Parts: sequence; C-alpha cells; structure tokens
Amino acid sequence: MGVGPGDPDLLTVAALRRIVGADVVAYPVARLEGEGMAARIAAPWIRAEQQRLPLLFPMVQEAEPRRQAWHAAADALAAEVGAGRRVVLLCEGDSSLYASCSYALLALAERHPAVPVAVIPGITAVAAAAAAASSQGMPWPLALQQEPLLVRPTPESAEELEHWLDQARATGTVLALLKLGHRWSWVQPLLQRRGLLEQSLFAQRVGWPDQLLSRASAVNPAEQPYFSLLVIRQGWPAVLP
Ligand SMILES: C[S@@+](CC[C@H](N)C(=O)[O-])C[C@H]1O[C@@H](n2cnc3c(N)ncnc32)[C@H](O)[C@@H]1O
Repeated sequence: MGVGPGDPDLLTVAALRRIVGADVVAYPVARLEGEGMAARIAAPWIRAEQQRLPLLFPMVQEAEPRRQAWHAAADALAAEVGAGRRVVLLCEGDSSLYASCSYALLALAERHPAVPVAVIPGITAVAAAAAAASSQGMPWPLALQQEPLLVRPTPESAEELEHWLDQARATGTVLALLKLGHRWSWVQPLLQRRGLLEQSLFAQRVGWPDQLLSRASAVNPAEQPYFSLLVIRQGWPAVLP
C-alpha cells in the first residue's frame, strides 16, 4: 500500500485502516539494519505490539541478488499470511509506480498465487510535488486539457534528455523526471542552455519537514539527493484564466 510521500498524513483512509488492523507491518529496506523510508513515513500509525518485518530490496545492478531478494520477500509475506496473520506491505508514494513492492507483488503471484492480495494506491511524489508547489504560491497544474503527461526516470545521458525534451515540446507534453539526484549536475546546464529553468519545478523531499519546492532556476547545479524530481512544462494551453 502507498504511504506518503514524506508526510504521514498523506495516506488514504483505506491504507490507514489496513495499517491499524495489521498484525505484521512489512516494508522495504536497502540494508537490513536500515529503517526504510516507507516505515519512517508510517511510523506514527504503527503500534509497538505490531510485528515489524523489514524486507531487503538491495540497490544493486546484478539480476541474481535482486531476484533472490524478491523471492525471499514473497516467501516471507506468504509465510505470515499462511500463519493466519494480517500483513501490510508499505510502499513510498504510489504502490504501482516505480515501486519496490511491485516486485513483491509479481513474485507473490508467481510463487504463491493463492495468497490473497489487495493493492491500496498511494499519492505519487509527482502529484504531491505539484500540490505542494501550488500551495506555496507557485500554481503548478500537472496537466491541462489535451496535454499529455509523461512520468519517467531522468535519462542517463544529455542526448537522451534532449530527445525527450524535443518530443515533449513538439507534442505539448509535460515531463516529470524522477530519480534526478546526482544527474542534476548535468541536467541543470542543459535546461539552462534551452532556457527551461524558469519553466521547470524542482521538488526535493516533498512532504518531509525539509522539503524544497522551487523553480529550477533557483537551484544550483550541484548533485542533489535521490528524493528529488523535476516537472518541466514547455508551454501552456492557449486559453487560460
Ligand atoms: C523508486 S521512485 C518511487 C516513486 C514512488 N512510488 C511514487 O509514486 O512517487 C523514487 C523517485 O521518486 C521521486 N520521489 C519519491 N519520493 C519523493 C519525495 N518525497 N520528494 C521528491 N521526490 C520523490 C524521486 O525522484 C525518487 O528518485
């Protein structure tokens, strides 16, 4: 189920009901001793007597350790359900958008198809960023009228980003780029060259006490934390208020 992003209040009533009624609260961690972003977000709603089940989702490129981790996570979840316990698996933002828990979902369907599953959607960081900017005097509708909205990871190269920006301009598409982090150091000069910094929303750690919402023109080109994204709007519909 989706929680946050950031703010523990950004939870659906459905998610909160499931957390409160759970015997076991599972959540992804990148290291076994780590706390996990989703667990930190949901912390105010988790009671001491509920069992915590950290599931290791290692941040590595190799296929095999990741596959093994997904299988182990699915097996651990299935074992808890099999023992009659009510289990929730927390996920940062929306539970179906670039989400670790999607791998657990796929592994469960493959290895334990009889385990009943309910996926509770969450609030994606892109929507939370647009809302937070609009709440700070920067009205930032994500998409209007016939505009397409493309949500994707930040490309790995300048050439690829130029391509997506050209496509977006030609089609009136709003681009939302996730996983910005260290790529900002070359994305910033590229957007500057194209005169797009003023038209781009930079959002960092949305929902956390240190959240930063700003036009990209105000953000220096140093590397940024992983929890950063951009929303690039190259034009507006002809008729506006
Ligand atoms: C693996 S994706 C997870 C997306 C998540 N499931 C969602 O619906 O937003 C992680 C990326 O989402 C973006 N992100 C997630 N949470 C964020 C936050 N609180 N503030 C800014 N960006 C965030 C960042 O670009 C980050 O690199």
